[in-house]
Amino acid sequence: MSYVSQVIQLLASLFVLALGVGVLAVIVMYIRDKTQIESTVRRNFPVVGRFRFLFEHLGEFFRQYFFAMDREELPFNRAERSWAYRAAKDVDGTIAFGSTRDIRRPGTTLFVNCAYPKLAKELLPAEPVVVGPYCKKPYSTTRFFHISAMSYGAISRPAVQALSAGAKRAGCWLNTGEGGLSPYHLEGGADIVFQLGTAKYGARNDEGELDEDKLREVTAHDEVKMVELKLSQGAKPGKGGILPGAKVTKEIAKIRGIPEHSDSISPNRHPNVKSATDLLDFIAQVRNVSGKPTGIKSVIGAHGWLDELFEEINRRGIESAPDFITVDSGDGGTGAAPMALMDNVGLQIKESLPIVIDRLEHHGLRERIKVVASGKLINPTEVAWALCTGADFVNSARGFMFALGCIQALQCNKNTCPTGITTHDKKLQRGLVPADKAERVYHYHHNMEKEVSTIAHSCGVNEPRLLKPVHCRIVQDNGKSIPMGDLM
Ligand SMILES: Cc1cc2nc3c(=O)[nH]c(=O)nc-3n(C[C@H](O)[C@H](O)[C@H](O)COP(=O)(O)O)c2cc1C
Repeated sequence: MSYVSQVIQLLASLFVLALGVGVLAVIVMYIRDKTQIESTVRRNFPVVGRFRFLFEHLGEFFRQYFFAMDREELPFNRAERSWAYRAAKDVDGTIAFGSTRDIRRPGTTLFVNCAYPKLAKELLPAEPVVVGPYCKKPYSTTRFFHISAMSYGAISRPAVQALSAGAKRAGCWLNTGEGGLSPYHLEGGADIVFQLGTAKYGARNDEGELDEDKLREVTAHDEVKMVELKLSQGAKPGKGGILPGAKVTKEIAKIRGIPEHSDSISPNRHPNVKSATDLLDFIAQVRNVSGKPTGIKSVIGAHGWLDELFEEINRRGIESAPDFITVDSGDGGTGAAPMALMDNVGLQIKESLPIVIDRLEHHGLRERIKVVASGKLINPTEVAWALCTGADFVNSARGFMFALGCIQALQCNKNTCPTGITTHDKKLQRGLVPADKAERVYHYHHNMEKEVSTIAHSCGVNEPRLLKPVHCRIVQDNGKSIPMGDLM
């Protein structure tokens, strides 16, 4: 027999074998599906019923490529993500023919361009903003766009390294999130906001209370410029996080100050804070120990507590105030949270930011307490809206995740993130090269500040922080816009 016919015979045998194995597998699946009791679909439609689960799973990935329209998906549609990707890659950000945005939709922001926009030679460099003028080491920055809290643990080591190096180049701050300060946050030399969550990771004793010595040590780093006390975040107000034991590696345990390989549950509020007076005492304690500006982060729901807090500040004196308030949107992101909290608890930033600004003005504290806004502010329009409303700074978490290459696979809670951002799987992290992604973080930041400046110049002001409510109109139900100030 010739060599060729031997090969053909072998292939034929392999084919028959594969066919036999296939048929056997179908028979086994049929019997298993028919006899199992967990799945109705598989019990009623053995074997074919399994495709439902496969397609449902694949649908998560393919919808965005084949079926969803540009402005359709949530949390971020393709148009919003594309802007972030193009900005991060520093490629041409212009679009052609006309806008695909339906600007007649109620709630749409329209900026009020002036007849005589600023010439390039008339533009001024941005003025620095000083945070915490009464503490030992006030912080000053000209940047208005910064990286929001995401802890090492929720995001991977290369992701933190890329953010740290990118933030340094961009000149913006990087918030550690509640998981403590890791060496990777410090690696790039960027300005750091150290976040103290309800479990006080990174500055706690064995009982989970604040350990002043550890706080002093962690905030003594030159890079740490401010401390943020997290009261709540938009995606899970009133809920403490659970870090499963499997994720509590030796390194993460050391950074957070918790035992290895056992579940770590953070309380749903700071156990030591249950009133405005407690909160101001806690702020004073942290500010005294750290010597650095100390603020709070919260999603706003019921807002009477703000009036109580501001009245108490005015009783004690304005030095006692938090140096900043970060207002997070009810539709903010997270590594993991229950759907009910993520979907329906807490006001979104479009509603809560005007409330906070209004209450601050009412109590005469607008200048004293700086305001940071966050929540789906990932494109220039949204950032410019927040500045018009009165924010001093805008934070973004998911915008910078897009800069790192996030494809919105919605797997942050599963350790299977295909882009290596929210996984500790080394094989998946391999694709995320910190040096390359740091460049993207820088470009995303740079192009954001540049385009917001373009909006400001079109409105006739020299720099973005001079944007005011008068520069913005909001489209109403009848398709016509009214001045933003009328709604505040
Ligand atoms: C993966 C991930 C981890 C986060 N971790 C924290 C955290 O540790 N502390 C916190 O206050 N907020 C955390 N957040 C919320 C963000 O800081 C931010 O407030 C929220 O996502 C809204 O901003 P965005 O719409 O730009 O993402 C996290 C968000 C994400 C997506």
